[in-house]
Amino acid sequence: MVLLVKTIDDVRAEVRAARATGKVVGLVPTMGALHAGHVALIARCRAEAGFVVVSIFVNPTQFGPLEDYGRYPRTMEDDLARCAEGGADLVFAPDATAMYPHGLASTFVEVPGLSGMLEGASRPGHFRGVATVVLKLFEIVGPQLALFGLKDYQQQLVIRRMVDDLALPVAIRTAETVREPDGMALSSRNRYLDPGHRQAATVLIRALRRAALTVAEGERRGDRVRQILRETIQSEALASLDYAEVADAETLEPLVFLEPGRRAVGLLAVHVGATRLIDNMILTESSGCG
Ligand code: PAJ
Repeated sequence: MVLLVKTIDDVRAEVRAARATGKVVGLVPTMGALHAGHVALIARCRAEAGFVVVSIFVNPTQFGPLEDYGRYPRTMEDDLARCAEGGADLVFAPDATAMYPHGLASTFVEVPGLSGMLEGASRPGHFRGVATVVLKLFEIVGPQLALFGLKDYQQQLVIRRMVDDLALPVAIRTAETVREPDGMALSSRNRYLDPGHRQAATVLIRALRRAALTVAEGERRGDRVRQILRETIQSEALASLDYAEVADAETLEPLVFLEPGRRAVGLLAVHVGATRLIDNMILTESSGCG
């Protein structure tokens, strides 16, 4: 059974009790509308932690003024079932006043550099909101480990950097992206897509796979790989490209050449109709590119 708590005092009391019995505490931060990708993170956390906390909070500070905060799906009953399925012990679902007692323009943490590019360039303030809420969740829950998905590739880098910079006593683990049978990455925002747009949205994984294949066949020029990503997205009438990048997998620095010994990642943000989707794929492992 999953216990649902809404206040900071309650979650602290539950975690304190678990810690008193010697349990390792793991945290999976989410915004709800949970799907099999979230369940996989929870299950992964369950495998490593004695006490698994899932937070569900649609964080207003990481949404831009014209973004989908208001209509982001809120499916608490379903979410609790998913948390139970993954093996969570505790769900922490605070309201906005618990997380932002003095309003949204309040104390924040910012991770410079990494936060300004790609998602951060398209969504100013996004990573400030993410880093701030995740730091606060770490402070509230006090986990020894926390799980993040590689689906949000840049996000996990930002969180790792914050944890390093602030010497936070939490180990960050990441899990592979869970996909539909046709390769489409699971996302809470996929619910916005009607069948026609859902079909069109496969263009993201098609583009990434084409890029990966080209690299596997020996292409090393970053611009050429970016062009393949762009052209594939442009071939889909319902899609419009936000960005297509080929970058160093650790620093996100754009790559002129994909070199052996340097992991490269392809990253996409694409509007499919009114829905903005992101996806990514590792294109070369650090063991070398042949
Ligand atoms: P949310 O989009 O709900 O995602 C919660 C976690 O699930 C993130 O770590 C995300 O990378 C992971 N995830 C999403 N889709 C996935 C998939 N298909 N496969 C595997 N993991 C997946 O990311 C956020 O919430 C927020 O920014 C948050 C970190 C909670 C801060 O508000």
